[in-house]
Amino acid sequence: MLSPKPEIRMQPNMATRRAITRRQFLEWLSILLSAWGAAIVGIPIIGFVLSPLIQKPPQLWRAVGAADRFKVGETVEVTFLDPSPLPWSGVSAKTAAWLRREGEQEYIAFAVNCTHLGCPVRWLPNADLFMCPCHGGVYYQDGSVAAGPPPRPLAQYDVRVENGQVEILTRPITIG
Ligand code: FES
Repeated sequence: MLSPKPEIRMQPNMATRRAITRRQFLEWLSILLSAWGAAIVGIPIIGFVLSPLIQKPPQLWRAVGAADRFKVGETVEVTFLDPSPLPWSGVSAKTAAWLRREGEQEYIAFAVNCTHLGCPVRWLPNADLFMCPCHGGVYYQDGSVAAGPPPRPLAQYDVRVENGQVEILTRPITIG
């Protein structure tokens, strides 16, 4: 007669210890992956938000064209290089302004960005108005608000003529 096989039983506390270890491992893995994901998303956002406080973009004079290129009374769009473009900016490192020659030696330059939410405004020469296509903001030719949501007049740049070149002094533009 065969004797019954001895039954091999796992000790209950061993099984429980292994299950807790696996659970703890998965919990730690989940925490690590969440922290990693939050860092990947959060660090660039924090850097973007804090960068204006950490370093102010330099103010530079930028040439926008020969003085004799501009006719008195005309408002034209000019482009210049952003003083502190990001390494990956490419063509978007260029920014623009609306320049008007008001007299032989007098120029006025407006930022293209609407003071509401920053859309580029267009100059309408037949109406002598700047018009924002985003929410219908309208500015008079001196940059003051004529209608719509813009809270302030268009920002202005300092302008000078050096060696026959019209130059604009770059500066940060406040939006909103
Ligand atoms: S962004 Fe120009 S009116 Fe809103």
